[in-house]
Amino acid sequence: MSDDFENVALGKQKLEKNDIDGAMHHLHNILKDNKDHIELYLINFDLFCRNQITIKNYDFLKTIAEYYFRDNFIYHQLAFSQAIKLTNFYKNRKAKTRKSSLFDLDIINEELFQLILKKCLIADLDLEFYLTKIRKKLLKKFLSKRDNQFFMKIYKFLIVFAEQKFFCEFIYHETDEEKELIKKLENKIKKKDDICELSILLISLYKPLNKCNYLKKKLVSYISRSNEFNEFLKYVFHDPDKDKQVSRSMKSLSNFSNKTSRLMKSQYEENPFPRWRYTLRPMEGNDINEFTNRYSRTFFKKPEILIAGCGTGQQAIAWSAYKDSKIYAVDLSSVSLAYAVRKAEEKNIKNISFYHLDLLDLDLLNKKFDIIISTGCLHHMEKPEDGLESLVNVLKPQGLIYLGLYSKRARSEIEWTRRYIQKRKIDVTEYNMRVFRTKILNSKNKKLQFIKGLIDFFSLSNFRDLLFNYTEHTYDFIKIKELLESKKLKFIAFNAMNPDTAKLFKAHFPDVNDKSLLESWDKFEKIYPKTFINMYNFWIKKIN
Ligand SMILES: C[S@@+](CC[C@H](N)C(=O)[O-])C[C@H]1O[C@@H](n2cnc3c(N)ncnc32)[C@H](O)[C@@H]1O
Repeated sequence: MSDDFENVALGKQKLEKNDIDGAMHHLHNILKDNKDHIELYLINFDLFCRNQITIKNYDFLKTIAEYYFRDNFIYHQLAFSQAIKLTNFYKNRKAKTRKSSLFDLDIINEELFQLILKKCLIADLDLEFYLTKIRKKLLKKFLSKRDNQFFMKIYKFLIVFAEQKFFCEFIYHETDEEKELIKKLENKIKKKDDICELSILLISLYKPLNKCNYLKKKLVSYISRSNEFNEFLKYVFHDPDKDKQVSRSMKSLSNFSNKTSRLMKSQYEENPFPRWRYTLRPMEGNDINEFTNRYSRTFFKKPEILIAGCGTGQQAIAWSAYKDSKIYAVDLSSVSLAYAVRKAEEKNIKNISFYHLDLLDLDLLNKKFDIIISTGCLHHMEKPEDGLESLVNVLKPQGLIYLGLYSKRARSEIEWTRRYIQKRKIDVTEYNMRVFRTKILNSKNKKLQFIKGLIDFFSLSNFRDLLFNYTEHTYDFIKIKELLESKKLKFIAFNAMNPDTAKLFKAHFPDVNDKSLLESWDKFEKIYPKTFINMYNFWIKKIN
């Protein structure tokens, strides 16, 4: 323990001297034997994500990357672009002169590479092109000269690759030749009674197993000798089937009479969002007031928290860890709710109640809440102001609301692309979305180039959420100010503002006060329009 204190103190000293490697070494000394030191665990993760990779620290940072990627309690996606730079794939890409075969085992069998495929969306076009090529070659090789020895050598890679394809919902471009080859493979599988895991994996690179009716019966009771294969089957086959069953039996409190709500319901039931797999190690038993005291002087004793538009449950699960909290999580997508219910069950969480309910009908819960969280939801309603009204009506007088809304300036290219799609009347089908994505990939248009850089470009449900959403409203600070005033609400603060942005803002507006705050942020955003690309996330309360 005294070693731990010493390491923390030394780590702090190193940070003060801007010696990030040094600080990380000290923190890692503690964390390598104790992942439950959550604060340090997150600090070191953050340092890892923003550290500069050099020849000197390369091996150490790779150890850190492996440490976090072997663990399941972190948002791996945040470290994606850093971790990928530490793989042999990247090394090979940089050494352009070095020719390697497509199936270089040093690349595809590397542990870190496989963990990244398993735990992140591959948001890197070079890697996507590489994987697209590999997929086609694998299929051809498998069907031409069945070389089982070769395929067994890359068995674990095939599993994580298939998991990745399921995760991104098969968004990669597929040629007609591949379509024909898949039919051939499916015909072969149909003729056999027993299960060939390699064939299953190859098929899973192209389509979800629960769309392969000829396989369903066989797979339901299949247990492999490989734990990895069983885990894969649970992820891509058993879990989605279970979610469908649970969603069908879910009782709705609303009748979803609003037309936009019905459209959103169908969208998020077809494409539940976000399809997360891993989440943060919960800070179990923490007092919520230690967090909320930066926004309010009210003491929340047994906080009752509403998550309005909870989607697939990530936030509900995170907030459920607070001491004595009770979570009410509401969404209109029964499939997203089923996903959330399963995740909560897997984690043995008991203090969340899920409701299939339109946010417009919150009064049906007969409850008032201390804290309401609604991010990424109101702007998908016909009239977001009615949604906000509904939230305000169920908020206790001293309660807090945390909102997340889209920024018009940050999303200008996205809005342009949405209009482009609407003008051309492109229907929302999986096929059309894939075709349109390929069009973006091949386009030189600057606005479309911007879309390629967004994480939402890399999975089908994200892509739909980004560009094919039925309803979307965007804001600037002036509009937000008017919205809040109309509901007698007061802006308190941003949630987790990036420290560099805060510093820059202060430099531009040193004398800002409460009254001029939102106008000043509006001026700031005119200069730096992409500041709020991840939404405006902020806390508000009632003007009492
Ligand atoms: C973009 S997702 C955001 C999910 C989650 N809040 C998050 O930040 O990850 C929007 C969610 O809002 C839900 N939603 C949209 N309109 C709603 C309404 N009128 N009532 C309840 N939920 C709604 C959708 O079903 C979807 O799950």
